[in-house]
Amino acid sequence: MRPSTLFGSLAALLLSPVSDAALTTVTNWGSNPTNLEMQIYLPKKLAAKPAVVVALHGCGGSGQQYYQQANYGSYADDKGFIVIYPSSKNDSNCWDVSFPRTLTHDGGGDSEGLSNMVSYLVQKYNADPAKVYATGSSSGCMMTNILLAVYPDVFSAGSCYSGVAAGCFAGSPGNSPTTSNRTCANGDVNKSGAEWAAQVHAMYPSYKGAYPRMQTFHGTADTLVYPQNLFEQLKEWSALLDVSWTRNNTNTPSSGYTQMVYGDGTKLVGYLAQGVGHTVPVHPQMDMKWFGLL
Ligand SMILES: *[C@@H]1O[C@H](CO)[C@@H](O)[C@H](O)[C@H]1NC(C)=O
Ligand SMILES: *[C@@H]1O[C@H](CO)[C@@H](O)[C@H](O)[C@H]1NC(C)=O
Ligand SMILES: *[C@@H]1O[C@H](CO)[C@@H](O)[C@H](O)[C@H]1NC(C)=O
Ligand SMILES: *[C@@H]1O[C@H](CO)[C@@H](O)[C@H](O)[C@H]1NC(C)=O
Repeated sequence: MRPSTLFGSLAALLLSPVSDAALTTVTNWGSNPTNLEMQIYLPKKLAAKPAVVVALHGCGGSGQQYYQQANYGSYADDKGFIVIYPSSKNDSNCWDVSFPRTLTHDGGGDSEGLSNMVSYLVQKYNADPAKVYATGSSSGCMMTNILLAVYPDVFSAGSCYSGVAAGCFAGSPGNSPTTSNRTCANGDVNKSGAEWAAQVHAMYPSYKGAYPRMQTFHGTADTLVYPQNLFEQLKEWSALLDVSWTRNNTNTPSSGYTQMVYGDGTKLVGYLAQGVGHTVPVHPQMDMKWFGLL
């Protein structure tokens, strides 16, 4: 079976008519340089100043599909926050994590379009600009790393699954398993924390503030995006957040997961899941806890 056929039947399996109604499609939300699509989960009752969570699908996925994979609806209903489930329609529906335009603050790439979706919700629903979060799986985790790096002024925290450090794909000719050159995915982009931090600072050179908090997961048996990429992310955020490794907690949050704690554990945490492949199951409750939305 060709990968595209596999993605197609997987998406068909995951879709259900009930969930179609759960998401609202938003148009004319602002400058959209790369033709992204925007759908949102609106809670039953909006908070006066709602938080915003951007939930990013992997390659071959869509906002609708990721709503099935990572359903934050009941949490949103409880706390009144809004979840954006955006869709990329380009390059096998992967997010652009390679080209200079997406790796530059307001550079005209996917990261700018996604940031503009957040601004629209701040305007339209009085969303709280201090409570904006990103999450995602695979390509969506790669984009989570990029949003936090390129828009540290917009995002307060990220929590994601099976991705790579922001900038790891810089220079690759594409973003999908077939159009990228695999160097990064294979775990062969190995940099020091200082080198990663310098690359991230260059994405938004005028920014002098703090960087967002990060929680990131990876499986040891992932052969599509090798687990070395977890360690590269941890070096990157350790340098950006100025926290160093303090301890490991084994079998946390469950059997086979090792939690790697940096500093006091409030800014940076990594999870390596023994024997788990690509993609690590989404842990919605842990995402919400990390964002302070629980
Ligand atoms: C392959 O991608 C890496 C980034 O992941 C980049 O540094 C390198 O220049 C690329 N090589 C080619 C030949 O495209
Ligand atoms: C779509 O993806 C291709 C391949 O990565 C890229 O060359 C092109 O610029 C992308 N188009 C948009 C609108 O992002
Ligand atoms: C990455 O580079 C460091 C320092 O050069 C080295 O100690 C480490 O073994 C390398 N890791 C990988 C996976 O290549
Ligand atoms: C902490 O856990 C990681 C992931 O299992 C492992 O690579 C690292 O060696 C551990 N560190 C120590 C000091 O045990």
